[in-house]
Amino acid sequence: MFSKILKWTGATLLGLVLLVGILYGVFSFLFYRHINKTYTAEVRDIPIPEDSATVAIGRHLYEIKGCGECHGERLEGKVFVNDPALGKIAGNNLTYGKGGLPANFNNKSWLRALRHGLNAQNKTLLLMPSEEFNRLDDHDIAAIIAFCKAQPPIDQPSTPIKIGPVGKVLSVLGKVPLFAAEKIDQHQVQPALITKAPTAAYGKYLSVSCTGCHQPSLTGGPNPVPGGVAVANITASGHVGKWSKEEFIATLRTGKTPEGKQLQAKDMPWPMTAKYTDEELAALYLYLRSL
Ligand code: HEC
Ligand code: HEC
Repeated sequence: MFSKILKWTGATLLGLVLLVGILYGVFSFLFYRHINKTYTAEVRDIPIPEDSATVAIGRHLYEIKGCGECHGERLEGKVFVNDPALGKIAGNNLTYGKGGLPANFNNKSWLRALRHGLNAQNKTLLLMPSEEFNRLDDHDIAAIIAFCKAQPPIDQPSTPIKIGPVGKVLSVLGKVPLFAAEKIDQHQVQPALITKAPTAAYGKYLSVSCTGCHQPSLTGGPNPVPGGVAVANITASGHVGKWSKEEFIATLRTGKTPEGKQLQAKDMPWPMTAKYTDEELAALYLYLRSL
């Protein structure tokens, strides 16, 4: 009797292990199909100025778009996810030093990465938020590239990306935004220059940087990072609807809300929003209040 139970338990366990193995095989197969897909993107060439005023605008954009969170403040490259289940994910060294970008990484290569989410082989970049940068106007994207190219070379090898088993499953299920190129309209033609002024229209343009976490509707929802806190509703129907412009600006500069809550930088990246100008925050406020 006892040996029979043992036999059954053994068989059940073996069956389970096999099932999990097969399922994981299917997810692995689908994962590699996503990352091996080749895209045909027509990269529209635009002039990249080199003057110091453009480089200064690019530095500000590098800071407020959070590039440094993933590529390092000096563009030296940075590991920003390191978890055996999710994987090891690093933004590469964006300088032209040893271990950084190859010498033939030209303006078109920058535009291909930032606007199309594609690498030199025309395959998707992983976790690089190009679907947000894709909507920046020619003026802003050129300034970012001008700033990056003006930085001194740093010799530091880029860390190869390794996606762990949970990372593969969650990305195939669409729970982790890993495949940049898939979320992009590859034929989008961006405006040359949008009007930058404290208006709701400019706020809408800036709010693209908030949609990765707060959702395109900006009403919040589950956190895109597995295990993260729920993302707040920042439209007029949330707390923002009760805040004055000054309170909104103070919150995004200090992380402390008028309700007395201290937002944690690991949840809501307020050290990044702290770097927005008054005009940019005023525009964001007007847009969010209009929703
Ligand atoms: C959420 C993290 C994250 C942010 C924010 C981010 N990147 Fe990336 N970026 C990555 C990762 C990861 C890669 C490498 C992807 C790969 O190799 O598949 C990458 C790749 C790139 C590449 C392509 C390099 C190559 O060798 O093909 C460029 C260029 C780049 N990023 C520039 C930027 C700039 C400029 C910004 C800000 C405007 C930025 N990134 C913001 C994560 C990020
Ligand atoms: C990396 C994800 C992420 C990004 C990007 C992000 N947020 Fe948040 N934000 C959060 C999370 C998560 C919370 C909720 C934190 C909490 O409840 O402690 C939050 C909270 C807030 C709050 C407080 C809301 C309240 O009711 O107290 C405001 C305001 C806010 N975000 C504005 C913005 C704006 C504006 C942007 C874009 C410029 C932005 N956030 C970008 C994740 C993000």
